[in-house]
Amino acid sequence: MIDTSFDMFIETIVPHNELIVSRSDLSGIITYVNETFAEISGYIPEELIGRPHSIVRHPDMPKSLFAELWHHLKKNESWSGYIKNLRKDKGYYWVHAHISVVYKDGEPVEYKSVFEPIDRETRIRMQRKYDHLRETEENHCRVVIYTSCDKAKELGEKL
Ligand SMILES: Cc1cc2nc3c(=O)[nH]c(=O)nc-3n(C[C@H](O)[C@H](O)[C@H](O)COP(=O)(O)O)c2cc1C
Repeated sequence: MIDTSFDMFIETIVPHNELIVSRSDLSGIITYVNETFAEISGYIPEELIGRPHSIVRHPDMPKSLFAELWHHLKKNESWSGYIKNLRKDKGYYWVHAHISVVYKDGEPVEYKSVFEPIDRETRIRMQRKYDHLRETEENHCRVVIYTSCDKAKELGEKL
């Protein structure tokens, strides 16, 4: 995929002191998001409900992180970690996520997540860590090149 727009490099800063929450069924389909979650993702809540949480998956995120997340959830354990998410407009935002199991009559019925902002140094550290994981585990790189538009078009056709 070749994208010559700058949109994917625009970061949205997650607000402090605001609750950012979502809920999903046991397969990760979104059942609820609050206004702040929708707003930082660039959607309206109605566009997110009924869709998988991977609607906000950013291509920079290593697969192994989500495998670990689901490994914990399937054992009814909560999971916390740093996530870079993709906005509807292709921009991004970073959050610290805490995802836990919701029980009814002793049985797991859904998952809920609470997201918090993270400081700039941690965002940069996690970006480097996830780039390294992606490259070593999946041989999957992000490439940014400056070249003639004709060459970019040619390359896009080859990829
Ligand atoms: C409650 C809950 C919240 C989640 N939040 C996110 C999220 O914010 N971003 C994300 O990429 N994946 C999130 N996931 C994980 C996704 O379900 C999915 O595993 C991930 O996006 C990778 O997608 P893929 O397995 O289709 O590649 C969440 C899962 C659950 C259960």
